[in-house]
Amino acid sequence: MKYLITSALPYINGIKHLGNLVGSMLPADIYARFLRLNQKEVLYICATDEHGTPAELAALAADLSVEAYCERQHQLQAEIYARFGLSFDHFGRTSSDANKELTQHFYTRLDQNGYIEERSIRQMYSLEDARFLPDRYVIGTCPHCGYTAARGDQCENCTRVLDPTDLLSPRSAISNSERLEIRESKHLFLRLPLLSDVVRSWVEGHAEWPPLSKSIALKWLNEGLQDRGITRDLVWGVSVPRPGFEGKVFYVWFDAPIGYISATKDWAVAHGDSEEWKAWWLSEDVRYSQFMAKDNLPFHTVMWPAMILGTGEAWKQADYIKGFNWLNYYGGKFSTSQGRGVFLDQAIDLLPADYWRYTLMTMAPETNDSAFSWELLQTRINKDLVGTLGNFVNRTLTFVTKNFGPALPEGGEPGEAEAKLRSQCESLVTRIAESLENMEFRKAIDDLYTLWTVGNQYIDAGAPWTLIKTDRAAAAQVVRTCINLIDLYARISAPFIPFTSESIANALHLSDTERSRPWPTTIDLTELKAGHSFEVPPLLFRRIEEQEVQGWREKFGS
Ligand code: MF3
Ligand code: ZN
Repeated sequence: MKYLITSALPYINGIKHLGNLVGSMLPADIYARFLRLNQKEVLYICATDEHGTPAELAALAADLSVEAYCERQHQLQAEIYARFGLSFDHFGRTSSDANKELTQHFYTRLDQNGYIEERSIRQMYSLEDARFLPDRYVIGTCPHCGYTAARGDQCENCTRVLDPTDLLSPRSAISNSERLEIRESKHLFLRLPLLSDVVRSWVEGHAEWPPLSKSIALKWLNEGLQDRGITRDLVWGVSVPRPGFEGKVFYVWFDAPIGYISATKDWAVAHGDSEEWKAWWLSEDVRYSQFMAKDNLPFHTVMWPAMILGTGEAWKQADYIKGFNWLNYYGGKFSTSQGRGVFLDQAIDLLPADYWRYTLMTMAPETNDSAFSWELLQTRINKDLVGTLGNFVNRTLTFVTKNFGPALPEGGEPGEAEAKLRSQCESLVTRIAESLENMEFRKAIDDLYTLWTVGNQYIDAGAPWTLIKTDRAAAAQVVRTCINLIDLYARISAPFIPFTSESIANALHLSDTERSRPWPTTIDLTELKAGHSFEVPPLLFRRIEEQEVQGWREKFGS
């Protein structure tokens, strides 16, 4: 069995925020890293989602061509994700040639199978901007409540759903021009109702999905699917290979999920075997897991599967869809468009990746919405990372260096305390593995923290600083066990805090063979033997002071 993993493809415009990271990319990365440690064959794919009006408008605002803008933003996003340690096997782009080709292929298949319909619709055209305006780029006065800045899709004030033609004194959100007229335009529609039954049986075949994914899928299916427009009057996007559709492109949501496949094609080319993508997307011995925030669930549980089923081809469908709720920021949502919350470039300049990776996963909105706060971040860092893991590693290695020198000391035999410790660790490690297999990240991280605490308990009970005065060999045995525990911590923590695990492995002078040991199924706290050298690592984590928290609250708003 091979493991295919994808995170929802982040939009190209803007820099993503902490909510995006915790809701799709970070948990997928932890899962991928865990499986790789288990020596599974893993392919973890992500890409920037580059088409659509927001990208066009952002390019306009940045005074760049949309190609240049996307190029720049793709690089920027790729660099930031690398700094967070996201271990994509490939980070692609939906504007690639492969995606264009495959999108047109999907369309052609759907058309051949009778799932595409051509219709004429009436749409707002801006003479000033020389383009059709998407609904939300028409602004005007709400006919229901009189709000003067209502958008063509919905009034923010009274929340009523609108059609742009409902608005009084409509104007273009791009140019503010009121020179608008209604024009007829031909568009293609995906006939989703015809696919409702096959999608339903596919969804119902997955009893094991998390309740959030399943309930959203069924809600959409039960409400009844509507035909859905899949073309737009835009320049930036995948062109529509159909007479009379020159100058139109596919709707961004039509080509975006196809990006999962085309990014895999690009990965295969980059890895020297251009056919290898088929072993992932046209093969049955693959377990495919998707990660995303809940707003993406309807699309991935209904629309995208419908597109695949409509082709009648054997594309790999998701086996498991892991959805996340919202991570809130002081009672509100993180929002890219409103610039609210903490963006990833700011976050990674503030603190190293592992501080974020760990604390965000302790707050992951897995079963409910959850709240980020600077105070909570401070507590998790100071208590868990500094006070528990960092403290144990540092005090142990410093004590041993001082009293025995920079190598594991000789003498003594493990006894009852060690047997108990070993079995404690074994059951925690087993549970962490089970939770990660089931993608239950909060459970896994709770047990990881508990695993870190047993070290401090063991060394406090063993008290080698006292023991050394009466029985040097017994004290040596205690600290040898502790250093083996540190080694275990580095291994088990690696999916969550890979940079720290590497620092620990460096401090423990681990060989390449030792570094590539698989995830342990039985625990042996005598693997590193007497005589094995080590050094005290630079401080693994630093405390967060009250003042800093105050400063961040002021800077980022709270
Ligand atoms: N770009 C979308 C978002 O950020 C997600 C696209 S997922 C895909 O919400 F499957 F369509 F690619
Ligand atoms: Zn209104």
